[in-house]
Amino acid sequence: MVKVVAGNWKMHHGPSATTRFLSRFRPEVEDGSVRLVFFPPHLSLAAAVAGTRVPADFGVQNIHWEGSGALTGEVSAEMAREAGATLALIGHSERRHIFGETDAEVGRKVAAAARAGLVPVVCVGELLAERRAGRLDEVLRRQVGAFAESLAGAAEFMVAYEPVWAIGTGETATPGDAAEAHGIVRDALGTLGRGAPVLYGGSVKPGNAAALVSVPDVDGVLVGGASLDPDVFARIAEACASAGRAGAGS
Ligand code: 13P
Repeated sequence: MVKVVAGNWKMHHGPSATTRFLSRFRPEVEDGSVRLVFFPPHLSLAAAVAGTRVPADFGVQNIHWEGSGALTGEVSAEMAREAGATLALIGHSERRHIFGETDAEVGRKVAAAARAGLVPVVCVGELLAERRAGRLDEVLRRQVGAFAESLAGAAEFMVAYEPVWAIGTGETATPGDAAEAHGIVRDALGTLGRGAPVLYGGSVKPGNAAALVSVPDVDGVLVGGASLDPDVFARIAEACASAGRAGAGS
């Protein structure tokens, strides 16, 4: 499987910064050797779609499950699609833990994305306290179980395993941690997950990306902080392309 290299810009890079980033982003990878994806802020999506000089897909960082309505500040999957998004990040840990998004809401958003023809990229991951309490398996299975049924009708989807303790902290899961967690996610998805990429996220950098995507069941990376600089993100894409080639050849 071609490795997915996705950047989640969170609340960074307005339209001008987006245009500047994309004019400089020139990873030395052959077309098709990695699948590049960006999740810019909603307001920067149009600039991103217009400004890219390399083949890439663009998604939004969040959607509401309703198609339209009196829901001030929200954006529907249909609107995101019309504005050029082809994917939607759903249930990111910041949505779950800062904005209180529940498993049930994640399920409704996944269904809405699938209905609108967006590729849901659903995030799961345990808190440090849950890991320390030996609850990794239980938490991941609960989170996957809450959206699995909503995937009916999705032509394609991805899951991102992002241990909450590794996000923006500089702490990265070891390849062994990633192997264990991705194995649980794959098992929880069962036949539904066949062919669906499972990405790793949490302090991915140019120096650790190759080791992470070389782990069985790690089909790509979802990068936060290190995706904000075009040169740094290009190095991550290049590392994943070489690791993907090495893996395919072994
Ligand atoms: P960092 O790469 O900054 O740890 O963020 C990871 C993340 O949350 C990507 O969605």
